[in-house]
Amino acid sequence: MHPATRHLPPANWPARSASAASLLFAPAPLGAATTRTRTWIPAMVPWRATESGHVTPDVIAWYTRFAQGLPGVLVVEATGIRDVPSGPLLRIGDDRHVPGLGELATAVRATSGGRTKLLVQLIDFLAIKRRPDPAAWFRRFLVITPAHRERLAVHADLAHLANAGEGELREGLLALPIERLTTILAARELDDLSRGYRERVTDTHLPHVAALPRDLPPLFAAAARRAEDAGFDGVELHYAHAYTMASFLSRLNTRTDGYGGSLEHRSRLAIEVFQAVRAAVSPRFVVGCRLLGDEVIEGGSRIEDAVFHSLALARAGIDFVSVSKGGKFEDAKQPKVGEAIYPYTGPSGHECMPTTKLDARGPFGRNLHLSRAIRAALRSAGFETPVVGAGGINSFELAEDALRSGACDFVASARQSLADPDWWRKMELGRGAEVRRCVFTNYCEALDQRHEQVTCQLWDRDFAAPDPTRPDGTIARSSDGKRRLVPPAWETGAID
Ligand SMILES: Cc1cc2nc3c(=O)[nH]c(=O)nc-3n(C[C@H](O)[C@H](O)[C@H](O)COP(=O)(O)O)c2cc1C
Ligand code: SF4
Repeated sequence: MHPATRHLPPANWPARSASAASLLFAPAPLGAATTRTRTWIPAMVPWRATESGHVTPDVIAWYTRFAQGLPGVLVVEATGIRDVPSGPLLRIGDDRHVPGLGELATAVRATSGGRTKLLVQLIDFLAIKRRPDPAAWFRRFLVITPAHRERLAVHADLAHLANAGEGELREGLLALPIERLTTILAARELDDLSRGYRERVTDTHLPHVAALPRDLPPLFAAAARRAEDAGFDGVELHYAHAYTMASFLSRLNTRTDGYGGSLEHRSRLAIEVFQAVRAAVSPRFVVGCRLLGDEVIEGGSRIEDAVFHSLALARAGIDFVSVSKGGKFEDAKQPKVGEAIYPYTGPSGHECMPTTKLDARGPFGRNLHLSRAIRAALRSAGFETPVVGAGGINSFELAEDALRSGACDFVASARQSLADPDWWRKMELGRGAEVRRCVFTNYCEALDQRHEQVTCQLWDRDFAAPDPTRPDGTIARSSDGKRRLVPPAWETGAID
């Protein structure tokens, strides 16, 4: 047993009869579909696609392994809606991605016998650059403006730079310590220098950012259409964390073009994207979204904003709202030179993927108050829109209590499902004692941060057990050969 297991609260696993009588293992409506159970695996990027964003055999093995645990819903990782290079992130921005995604959907359906509904999370994100080497940044990237010269002029010891040629000025700035640069550079320039250049939705001086409200609805709609063509049961619009759509919903969105500022204006693009998607797919195709119950950053959105946005989306007819928390760039740790900022490293990131080290409360059901508040507001307004709760859910009791007490309608578990994709099935069969329990110390998340193939420390060095996705008896390994890529088989857990 892993030593960190002692930090976990004890779990009282249910007998088979108790599972059979539970809400967790009862069917539930999801848009026009009905799920077999209320169990849900939320999106997790495993870094297994090709550099051109195509599905690989490893992607298929990864999701079929999750499907062997028969979750009610399985959401495929954040998948890019644009036809632009984005490293080994799965993409759906062109028809050439449809055959691979179709193979994936077929494999999941075959493995689960159609008992798992398969969604794909659709994401858009803005440009982000690595933290620059200061010499390169001052010499090549900083745009020297009259404002720099004016600010230099007021410092007696720097005034000589105010009228210097550009080359001398750049070298002079490069030689200054960061404390002095705070009085010369604009806040945004300091941020670019110390954390890497990052586009914001408020950068409306950039034509492609100004045009996002025009461009995004058709991009999301075409991506959703492809998902339906590929055989998925639905899509989850990624309106959460550090990405474009969440930034439109955010209180930090001060755009003045009708898509920022007031709550109504901030929700507008989310609704227009949803409407475009809904119009592009058939009525039986599920269309929901994931949004933030709380951004957990200074000046950011809180639960009141999330309630407003959820009500607006419910009114527009969204099929579900999945609730997450935090995961923002604004408070992320400063990256090293040459590395990109990662939105799960600051306080908001820690709330998004909470660990046992966070505080005495720990990660267990930590974010359910947010889904509860959103669900209560939806029900009071007469909407039956299902709400998905997540965050440290790792036991039957926690999951069942969340459902019975009205915190959510579906229980999402990411890391516990990664630690043991069969855990749902084990609980359902009354064999919870066999669950390999996640220890919530985020070894997997550290791999994600480095864009390395995600695995779990509880099983990735276990080469004795077979790979249940490989009938030839071989075991798929990570690029460096040191880790297995697919959780070991649960010997006695054959799907009936
Ligand atoms: C490796 C990894 C990758 C993730 N990728 C995504 C993602 O693509 N989209 C998303 O909405 N959330 C992503 N998440 C967040 C999870 O979906 C989930 O919200 C979070 O881990 C908290 O749930 P848990 O406590 O059950 O793990 C990721 C989490 C992990 C650990
Ligand atoms: S690696 Fe991730 S899934 Fe595995 S035990 Fe650690 S936190 Fe849980």
